[in-house]
Amino acid sequence: MPILLDGLAGLEYRGYDSAGIALQVPGDGLWVRRRAGKLAELAAAVGDAPADATTGIGHTRWATHGRPSEQNAHPQLDGSNEVAIVHNGIVENYLELRDQLAGEGHEFRSETDTEVLAHLVASRLAEGAPLADAVRSLLGEVEGSFAVAVVHADDPGLVVAARRVSPLVAGVTRGDDPAAFLASDIPALLPHTRSMFVVEDDQLVELRPGEVRVTDLEGREVDPEPRTITWDVERAEKGGYDDFMRKEIHEQPAAVRDTLRGRTSPEGRLMLDELRLSEDELRVVDKVFLVGCGTSFHAAMVAKYAIEHWTRLPCEIDIASEFRYRDPVVDAHTLVIAVSQSGETADTIEAMKYAKRWGARVIAISNVVDSSMARLADAVLYTHAGPEIGVAATKTHLAQVVALELLALYLAGIRGTRYLSEARELLDELARIPDRIEVVLERDDDIRPVAEELAEIRDFFFLGRGVGYPVALEGALKLKEISYARAEGYPGGEMKHGPIALIEPGTVVVGVATHSDVYTKLLSNIQEMRARGATVVLVANDGDETAAGLADRVLWVPRTMELFSPAVDVVALQLFAYWLAKARGRDVDKPRNLAKTVTVE
Ligand code: BG6
Repeated sequence: MPILLDGLAGLEYRGYDSAGIALQVPGDGLWVRRRAGKLAELAAAVGDAPADATTGIGHTRWATHGRPSEQNAHPQLDGSNEVAIVHNGIVENYLELRDQLAGEGHEFRSETDTEVLAHLVASRLAEGAPLADAVRSLLGEVEGSFAVAVVHADDPGLVVAARRVSPLVAGVTRGDDPAAFLASDIPALLPHTRSMFVVEDDQLVELRPGEVRVTDLEGREVDPEPRTITWDVERAEKGGYDDFMRKEIHEQPAAVRDTLRGRTSPEGRLMLDELRLSEDELRVVDKVFLVGCGTSFHAAMVAKYAIEHWTRLPCEIDIASEFRYRDPVVDAHTLVIAVSQSGETADTIEAMKYAKRWGARVIAISNVVDSSMARLADAVLYTHAGPEIGVAATKTHLAQVVALELLALYLAGIRGTRYLSEARELLDELARIPDRIEVVLERDDDIRPVAEELAEIRDFFFLGRGVGYPVALEGALKLKEISYARAEGYPGGEMKHGPIALIEPGTVVVGVATHSDVYTKLLSNIQEMRARGATVVLVANDGDETAAGLADRVLWVPRTMELFSPAVDVVALQLFAYWLAKARGRDVDKPRNLAKTVTVE
């Protein structure tokens, strides 16, 4: 028990809404305990755990399917309580599998996708398969991302695990007290061993005391490559990075992939069945409001461009703290989309309540399952970025942008303003966004010196046009939040109507100059800034020598479709802000005066 509790404590940054443990008790089946809430709740409830258990699995949860509760906590069990499974990831085809198993008489006790896996293993065991092969069958039947660990009441001293996409590491200790360990991430193993190996995709692991056997999909033995981890626990929690913020910036491809996962059918049709609003209810909408605060407001701004362009529905965007006090025109034909990573921001919640009072339908975009906003809304579209520790939002922002783009395409499909062929092409490009983000992340070391050389600069202007404007605002906000530099985001064309008065030699202008219908307009605005002596840094598409010709420094990014470019271009500005703040010696994870979630108006 103490080993499992300590291991889970080292992983709580990955999820902390409920937890559970299953122990194998020789001759007495499985001992299982689960609790909603932080790990401490579980720790306080395991006093009667059998002391002689030597095999067990544990889990701390970040809900994706099924609200945080004791019933939905892991381990999930099969009908006979003989198979216990813990799972990290998303089972895309769990509804089909659930229906199939229900047809075979299986009964389900939770709202989770994970419980289906326990029943699948049990049904394979019932066909006579040994535990390892029963778990291996998951690799063939399950679509999506998963790392699982399974124990069976009658298979003492054995833990079987398998992995696809979601991370899994393993390690053993030999000698007098041989042991074997497995975990989602390195921090849980560090107290026991520094020698560990990464379990690769579609591999199966059998753990016995002092022994780990790895096989592939066909059951062939694999000889894993152990490596020695020199990090301390804190650094390990940050994945080897100095800060959670930089780790989370580098987690953005996965955050976008997981948010897109299971939302398009193999034929390329958009499936947002989780939306509890019917197509008819969405067809009668004649106006949209997008509300949010901080970085979420900037995602809302990007959505305005996408929804208006693809659906021709008029969209208004509001900073949530202003919305209800400006007496907006809201009625039963209005759709209000409230954007928030935490789902707990008071200003946005009050805006939602106002909208509901006036009869509007409300959709929440939230990264936290069962958050207050999720419960208040008529429908929720969850982002799957995982928990975000850094106060300045990064991966949740990108997940919001792509979730809102999906919603815009969904509305266009329902309203017939976009043909399936167009939507297919757009969805294909959206699916390529994680790869494009990876290209920017590979240039992290090129962006660092650009930021470091400007660390002493006091005034920054971020300029963008069209959908590049919210990107400029977000770039400016990131720099303000973590470096405390003065940074203003402006539409490029607006500078000459006032703020240009502040431009002088030594002022830095950061322009979002990627491919768009207003690209040439933005370049002329940059020339106006250069003419007044500004130092120019441009975010430009690979190979764009015209833009490079106008810049002192260029942050190169791959090209994508205009309306998707915010999900790529902003990454360069996140890294720019990060390195500039680091050069100023700032605590980027816990910047002064800020809180991750503001629950007061
Ligand atoms: C602020 C955070 O408190 O709230 C920002 O520091 C965030 O990072 C903003 O963007 C809105 O939060 P949320 O949870 O509603 O997206």
